[in-house]
Amino acid sequence: MKINYQETTTDLATRIDIHNKYGGRNIDEWMLGVLKPSKGIKILDVGCGSGKQCFSFYDYLDGQAEIIGGDVNEELLNQARAENQKRNLPIQFVSLDFNRRFPYPDNTFDLVSCCFAIYYAEDVPFTLSEMHRVLKSGGRLFTTGPMPNNKQLFYDVIREATNNKPIPPMPGSSRYSTQFLSVMKELFSRVDVHIFENPLTFESVDPFIAYTRASLSEDRKLWSSFFKDKDEFERIMRAITQVAERRLKQEGKLVMTKVVGGFVAIK
Ligand SMILES: C[S@@+](CC[C@H](N)C(=O)[O-])C[C@H]1O[C@@H](n2cnc3c(N)ncnc32)[C@H](O)[C@@H]1O
Repeated sequence: MKINYQETTTDLATRIDIHNKYGGRNIDEWMLGVLKPSKGIKILDVGCGSGKQCFSFYDYLDGQAEIIGGDVNEELLNQARAENQKRNLPIQFVSLDFNRRFPYPDNTFDLVSCCFAIYYAEDVPFTLSEMHRVLKSGGRLFTTGPMPNNKQLFYDVIREATNNKPIPPMPGSSRYSTQFLSVMKELFSRVDVHIFENPLTFESVDPFIAYTRASLSEDRKLWSSFFKDKDEFERIMRAITQVAERRLKQEGKLVMTKVVGGFVAIK
C-alpha cells in the first residue's frame, strides 16, 4: 500500500510538545523501562524523525552505545543533527528509506527501534524482514503505534463536528495491532505486547485544537479526502472548535487518552 504521507517539522514538533505538556506520563521512560537496553549495544532507530528516541537511548546509556538514526525526511534529520552537534554527541543521523534494502549487513544490530513510523511502510513484510535481517540473533525489534482505542476524544469530536463524515482509514490505528503484529509473529521467534496509556488533560480548548490542526494538517495528506481545499479545512476546524468548547463547558476538561502498543520482537 502506497501511503501519501509527509510529516512536517512543525506538525511533528507541535504534537510532541503537546504530549509532553499535557500528558501525565513520559513515553520514552516507558520505552526504556520495557526495553532496559544494556550498555555497549548497537542500536538502529528507523523513522527517527528529529531524533527523540535516539537521544533518549543515548542519555539512558550514558553514551555507551553506538546509535544510528535513519529517516527519509532531510528536514527532520537536520534538526536531529543540529541537536546532536549542539550537545556534541556522536549519534549518526543518516538518510534511510525503509521501503528499500537497508544499507547494513546481516546481523549488525542488537536493537532496532521504530517508533510511530512502521505503518507508513509501503510493503510491511519487506520492511519488517529488513529489520529482522540487520538484527543479530537474539536481537530485539521494538515498534510503537496506536492501538484501536487510541485518541477516542479526537475522533468523537471530529465525527460530531462533521455529522459523521467518514474518517479516512489511518494507516496506524487501522492496521498496527492486527496486520503488523501478525507479520511480526510470523518473522520473529517471539513477540511481546506492552501497552502504554497516557491521558492528555486539557483545561482549555486551545491545545486540543492545536493538536487537531497538526494532526489534520493538509501537509500530512492522510486526511486529504476529508476536505477538498483550505476553505473546507478551515470550516471543519471551526466546527471542531465549537464542539470542543461545548464539551469543555459540560465536562470541565477534555481528556484525550493516547493508547500505544509497544511490540518487542526477538530474532
Ligand atoms: C510520526 S513521525 C515519528 C518520528 C520519531 N520516531 C518520533 O517518535 O518522534 C514518523 C516518521 O517516519 C518517517 N518516515 C516515513 N516514511 C519513511 C520511510 N519510507 N523511511 C524512513 N522513514 C520514514 C517520517 O519522516 C517521520 O520522521
